[in-house]
Amino acid sequence: MIEMLRKTLQLSSNAAIPVVGLGTWTLQPPALQPVIERAIELGCRHIDCAAIYENEKYVGEYLQSIFKNNERFNVARNDLFIVSKLWNTKHSREDVFTAFEQTLKDLQTDYLDLYLIHWPFSFHEDERGYSKLDANGVAIIKPVPISETWAAMEELLAQGKVRSIGVSNFTATHLAELLKAAKVKPAVNQVELHPFLPQHDLLTFCEKNEIRVVAYSPLGSGKQPSSMEHPAVVKIAKEMKMTPAQVLLSWAITRGTPIIPKTSQPERLEENFDIKPLDGESMTAINAITTRFRVVNPVEFWKVDCFDGEL
Ligand SMILES: NC(=O)c1ccc[n+]([C@@H]2O[C@H](COP(=O)([O-])OP(=O)(O)OC[C@H]3O[C@@H](n4cnc5c(N)ncnc54)[C@H](OP(=O)(O)O)[C@@H]3O)[C@@H](O)[C@H]2O)c1
Repeated sequence: MIEMLRKTLQLSSNAAIPVVGLGTWTLQPPALQPVIERAIELGCRHIDCAAIYENEKYVGEYLQSIFKNNERFNVARNDLFIVSKLWNTKHSREDVFTAFEQTLKDLQTDYLDLYLIHWPFSFHEDERGYSKLDANGVAIIKPVPISETWAAMEELLAQGKVRSIGVSNFTATHLAELLKAAKVKPAVNQVELHPFLPQHDLLTFCEKNEIRVVAYSPLGSGKQPSSMEHPAVVKIAKEMKMTPAQVLLSWAITRGTPIIPKTSQPERLEENFDIKPLDGESMTAINAITTRFRVVNPVEFWKVDCFDGEL
């Protein structure tokens, strides 16, 4: 098995999160099944899902067929670390429970390893189940206090339906507010992290508060400008006989942040999983990059910001 796929990190909940996972955003049939199968075959045990990706039903279906195929995979549900996320229109207490049950049903499992509040936003829902926008395309806020949503997440934890609970896209300010109300602190904050958005201060804040930070869009999500093409990254890749993608993923795990890269091409999985810690000199060179770019920008989707323009 690829060495890095065996590695886990401890969460404050006492669960262990595999350092390398598989992202599933935008993956749909027919690309989704071969990617999940190859990832599991290679030894990946961490799968990052979300209700809003509209593919949990397929992920559940493919996992069931994987569990049945012992000859090829030899893997059971409890070998996996399955993550999902509560959508922005489901923050009210009762909605948390119904959204969670739907995710369990879709993923065909009776528990999750980690359930995250996807964004610090609560929006009204439109007739199609998406975030409701006003005439100017601005998402309409539904005033549900984050303390209400978090208390429902804590109930799911107490009921044993989820092993760890956490958040996503939370800034230090959001976390500080949540920590005031929380009985159980979030085990994870999943945020965008790559050399163009390193968020050093957020990492420090989370470390102090024992919140594990998971790096999403670690390869820059295929957007331009791409840190994969930055001269410092390309130079290290040449010197270390790695690909630029491997350098970015290695940088992330060297900082102690688990990664969930996504690919629609199964033949890229081995490359994305076969990574190793970088030396101090390479880390310094990448940390000296000054380009700043957020690839997942809520202003583009909903014309509202939760990051106050921070980069
Ligand atoms: N919590 C949140 O709000 C949030 C937001 C965004 C993402 N996420 C999670 O994080 C996961 C990863 O983020 P992401 O999907 O935005 O993007 P990503 O993993 O940073 O990048 C994916 C892009 O990189 C390409 N790629 C993959 N492997 C490559 C390689 N070895 N060499 C060159 N290019 C490569 C992919 O193209 P191909 O498909 O052609 O390989 C795709 O265009 C998501 O799938 C999702 O699970 C969470």
